[in-house]
Amino acid sequence: RGHRYKTIIISLLFPTQVMERNVDPEGTLLTFLRKNWTLLSKSWLLRLTGTKYACGRGGCGACTVMVSKHDPVSRKIRHFSVTACLMPICSLHGAAVTTVEGVGSIKTRLPPVQERIAKSHGTQCGFCTPGMVMSMYTLLRNHPQPSEEQLMEALGSNLCRCTGYRPILESGRTFCMESNSCQQKGTGKCCLDWGENDSSPLGKKSEICTKLFAKEEFQSLDPTQELIFPPELLRMAENPEKRTLTFYGERGTWISPGTLKDLLELKVKHPKAPLVLGPAMKSQGHFHPVLLSPARISELSMVTKTSDGLTIGAGCSLAQMQDILAERIAELPEEKTQTYRALLKHLRSLAGQQIRNMASLGGHVISQHCCSDLNPVLAVSNATLNLISAEGTRQIPLNEHFLAGLASADLKPEEILESVHIPHSQKWEFVSAFRQAQCQQNALPHVNAGMRVLLKEGTDSIEDLSIAYGGVGAATISAHRSCQLLLGRRWNELMLDEACRLLLDEVSLPGSAPGGRVEFKRTLVVSFLFKFYLEVLQELKKLVKLFSDSRHHSEVSDQFLSALEDFLVTIPQGVQTYQNVDPHQPLQDPVGRPIMHLSALKHATGEAMFCDDIPMVDKELFMALVTSSRAHAKIISIDVSKALELPEVVDVITAEDIPGTNGAEGDKLLAIDEVNCVGQIICAVVAETDVQAKRATEKIEITYEDLEPVIFTIKDAIKHNSFLCPEKKLEQGNVEEAFEKVDQILEGEVHVGGQKHFYMETQRVLVIPKTEDKELDIYVSTQDPAHVQKTVSSTLNIPINRITCHVKRVGGGFGGKVGKPAVFGAIAAVGAIKTGHPIRLVLDREDDMLITGGRHPVFGKYKVGFMNNGRIKALDIECYINGGCTLDDSELVTEFLILKLENAYKIRNLRFQGRACMTNLPSNTAFRGFGFPQGALVTESCITAVAAKCGLPPEKIREKNMYKTVDKTIYKQAFNPETLIRCWNECLDKSSFYSRRMHVEEFNKKNYWKKKGIAIIPMKFSVGFAATSYHQAAALVHIYTDGSVLVTHGGNELGQGIHTKMLQVASRELKIPMSCMHISETSTATVPNTIATAASISADVNGRAVQNACQILLKRLEPIIKKHPEGTWEDWVSVPLPLLLQMRKQSKPVLRQHYAQPSHTETVPLSVTVMENFLNQCAFLQGLGESGMFLGSSVFFAIADAVATVDIAEDFMVQSPATPERVRMACADRFTEMRPRELSMWIHTWQIPPAEGYSR
Ligand SMILES: Cc1cc2nc3c(=O)[nH]c(=O)nc-3n(C[C@H](O)[C@H](O)[C@H](O)COP(=O)(O)OP(=O)(O)OC[C@H]3O[C@@H](n4cnc5c(N)ncnc54)[C@H](O)[C@@H]3O)c2cc1C
Ligand code: FES
Ligand code: FES
Repeated sequence: RGHRYKTIIISLLFPTQVMERNVDPEGTLLTFLRKNWTLLSKSWLLRLTGTKYACGRGGCGACTVMVSKHDPVSRKIRHFSVTACLMPICSLHGAAVTTVEGVGSIKTRLPPVQERIAKSHGTQCGFCTPGMVMSMYTLLRNHPQPSEEQLMEALGSNLCRCTGYRPILESGRTFCMESNSCQQKGTGKCCLDWGENDSSPLGKKSEICTKLFAKEEFQSLDPTQELIFPPELLRMAENPEKRTLTFYGERGTWISPGTLKDLLELKVKHPKAPLVLGPAMKSQGHFHPVLLSPARISELSMVTKTSDGLTIGAGCSLAQMQDILAERIAELPEEKTQTYRALLKHLRSLAGQQIRNMASLGGHVISQHCCSDLNPVLAVSNATLNLISAEGTRQIPLNEHFLAGLASADLKPEEILESVHIPHSQKWEFVSAFRQAQCQQNALPHVNAGMRVLLKEGTDSIEDLSIAYGGVGAATISAHRSCQLLLGRRWNELMLDEACRLLLDEVSLPGSAPGGRVEFKRTLVVSFLFKFYLEVLQELKKLVKLFSDSRHHSEVSDQFLSALEDFLVTIPQGVQTYQNVDPHQPLQDPVGRPIMHLSALKHATGEAMFCDDIPMVDKELFMALVTSSRAHAKIISIDVSKALELPEVVDVITAEDIPGTNGAEGDKLLAIDEVNCVGQIICAVVAETDVQAKRATEKIEITYEDLEPVIFTIKDAIKHNSFLCPEKKLEQGNVEEAFEKVDQILEGEVHVGGQKHFYMETQRVLVIPKTEDKELDIYVSTQDPAHVQKTVSSTLNIPINRITCHVKRVGGGFGGKVGKPAVFGAIAAVGAIKTGHPIRLVLDREDDMLITGGRHPVFGKYKVGFMNNGRIKALDIECYINGGCTLDDSELVTEFLILKLENAYKIRNLRFQGRACMTNLPSNTAFRGFGFPQGALVTESCITAVAAKCGLPPEKIREKNMYKTVDKTIYKQAFNPETLIRCWNECLDKSSFYSRRMHVEEFNKKNYWKKKGIAIIPMKFSVGFAATSYHQAAALVHIYTDGSVLVTHGGNELGQGIHTKMLQVASRELKIPMSCMHISETSTATVPNTIATAASISADVNGRAVQNACQILLKRLEPIIKKHPEGTWEDWVSVPLPLLLQMRKQSKPVLRQHYAQPSHTETVPLSVTVMENFLNQCAFLQGLGESGMFLGSSVFFAIADAVATVDIAEDFMVQSPATPERVRMACADRFTEMRPRELSMWIHTWQIPPAEGYSR
């Protein structure tokens, strides 16, 4: 009792055992693994940095590790994946943890799971890869030959921002038993099964290549080679410690009792202390002085099968509950398992597998959170809660009173939940569960529901009815009153109408409901009931023969049956084809071949070092930022005294500490007198630990005086004439005159939503001041180290030559790491100079998303004049972008957008205007596509509207207006459309567009509730910067006397594989294998004055520089080679010559592509074909970085096509993105009609209109 225990025994990196003597009760497994010291001992050196921090909320899977525990009841070892960022370290006492380093290493043994993800091209930036590997590894430990469904489930909550998932899943599929064909063309036949001379949809088999890796070369998986569970832990598990273990921290205490009796006594002593089993406490981030852990209480994991139901221990994880329910469903007759099936359905989509492995049934029920997926089902199925306390036991119903949190129906402070009893269903009873979320997996539901009806035996009259909803209020809501009023009614359309009316009345959603979406949610309330109504009717149809009552019951028409089919989570089918290299190309020459990313194996083993993986340096301090909580205000005072009083806090950095320039006028690094958005940086705390620095930021008191106006939206900015720069305008032909001659004129508006930056690696920088000559070394995650260098120089007022920026690799950038890293680098550098210590600044995800802005939302207005045959004669578009509070890249984005608005169309009379609005939002910035995707969406929406007006398919209008002959673009560049036309035709042909369109039409005729759509969108995308002087790059190539070559260039490795491509170029030029070459990092000391790695041209311009440098070096070697033609490379270069060359070069035509891997974040079937025999005369590569982004618009227009087949309640195309809410609300039916008209008046009052907010 109360035994003071300071040792945690877990096994990390099988079979090494870790004894941590000073574990912090507030700490997570992630900080424990990554940090090289702990708060209390300041001595521990573990530093397993393969496990990554990306969100800290259990939402991305980057921190996935495998936990293994011995289950004393089944006497089996359980392996399960968890997210280390939410795993309290103390809860792991006695567990074994396997991190990515424990799976394998490039230095020792590389197991199949790591080898295959790397060789299948499943890594780009590699930041998500360790998490992917660990999810897959855990799956394979439990199922060496998994099914594709199991693979999808295992990876369901691992996010990747680069690869588009296809290659990752492809690597996992190599372990699966079955493998479905790619279903090209919807023929049911795999494209690879076509005969040699078949005219396959992808072209002749001999001409295409789809094989990016040789599966037969992979090592096979041998489960016997896996490391065993540590015997010491086995002994611990078999002779469980009964004493209470207590872990003391600086602020809190973790108590883990060994018996139920002790737990109940502790609950009396600490009635306010939460019981911690799962991730919830960590994800909420609240502080509790005492935490009770019931993890060692076996009574809470008991499962009892009784004749009337199933009793599941509150300590069972949701994943264990899935297994228990599945087992019971297999054992019992169907009629008894209705509730279990409904629960199982929701458990499959609740969070991701890692969270289900951690979250407990007890924690889930007791949290009573409003979006709980299980509570509505448990509530309608009459589940009871078995409670226990030192006083004894009692049962309470899991009903609406409990869920509403009524004290009389809830647990007493000293009580705990021991188990949940779920009764069997019975004959004539039907239970169902419904859920609508932003996406199928790993997303909290907008609305969910549990529904149960008991019909009077042999009839369709309602004997009992229960309906409960989640997501529509502060708690799970039960529609008790409506259900009571429907008792005795027959299960028919009349009952349905009445039920909908009653439900909408009872489940009232005020306009200010949290999360908004009120109309959508009300529609879901009745739509779910309709689905339930149909489901029960279908079941009744099966039972009809048993009817004793001869009354006729309602039937479901065939047309309506599609409402009953759920969308299955299936493995995305896709194929990537590319053209083989010329058979005469020398084997050594790697250009044009699908080479694995140079760092791929290191990504897979976690050995690839990112900025925050750099070990702590001597005397290092941490920085945390303080940001504005007001949108527009005067800063009256900043009081830092309370922060400075905290232990371990060293200093607070404000604008006054800046020795040089504080940013630019209107765009200060640290705010001085005024703030212009929430999230603007005001000052920064420097402390000995990151935790303490973060805590101290909360103690800084800032007094504000609010200022007017506060502008958030584009429309408000227009009203206030609030703009960041002058208007941009392009005009061609005579627009007004053309409008007078056309058959028809259409005008419309389009709102394109913004997008938050979500590179997996948040912004981070490490600044190390040197003792001599004011030198600074800066390690930073950036796309533009020269910009960081320059900004730090002007901020500190020291010459650029004293500052060296190093970039090893970046965990994704997408434009978000072009400008902002300079701000963070400069603030950290001020801290480093002021304190004289190295400073590490790592943004947590919340700060990163708050501060960094994102893609510009766009509001476009168009006026288009066209002939009745669809030929467009005049187009006038006006676009406004929401730039946020500072200029940043907004002027350039406006220019780029205006220049590219014509997309692939030759329209003689054009007028494009653009303005960047100044609003009180964080400044928006560069983002993949740089305004093109938003602008082109406006143009394509306009084209689609013209098609609808002409009564013609949109693809016909597109074709009619496309460039046909060599012509000048609006920006006066000669453009040959040959490739555009070829690409369009091939795409139509290879996708069998027209037969698919027929299939879609056929499907839509037969199905009322499910619709299909199809779209094909052309794209003309010119890469590069508007200022051609930016198309320069430099490379520095060293040849050493042992024959090895060190290549350096100005591009940064963001995951796009630029270093791999540069070595391919160098290898071709020097005619030596890539294995003789190396790229260490990008550094401003080796290649100075570089341009940002952006605009899809970095590989081209740097490739040219590398090529040039290699050619000159080879020329220098020529005399020696000529003299010793029989010599080897090593012989030639061992002669001392100045074999070092730096080249600055402008891009010129040469070579071919490496390979393309467009990013695609949803599981949409995707085929990528890189066109054959297409020699791009202007580039090494095809500039695929940014252009791919807009290809996703075809999905938007396909959805628009599907929506167009139903009655339209609102114009779908006026707003993107196409969220489930927008799709649903665009389709008018009897359920959308049921919402009260007055709702629309206050529908958006709680938030910025969605089109100008961000897609969530
Ligand atoms: C990333 C993420 C995504 C999620 N997505 C979803 C989703 O899509 N749908 C959904 O429904 N849920 C979702 N959840 C919530 C999840 O299902 C759990 O409900 C939640 O994590 C609570 O369970 P826990 O085991 O973590 O609770 P804990 O942290 O262990 O406990 C939560 C509360 O319950 C109390 N408690 C726990 N056990 C007992 C007991 N035996 N007796 C008395 N009190 C007890 C604790 O004192 C505490 O107050 C998500 C959670 C996360 C972190
Ligand atoms: S899930 Fe842990 S960092 Fe994202
Ligand atoms: S490779 Fe997955 S996030 Fe970059």
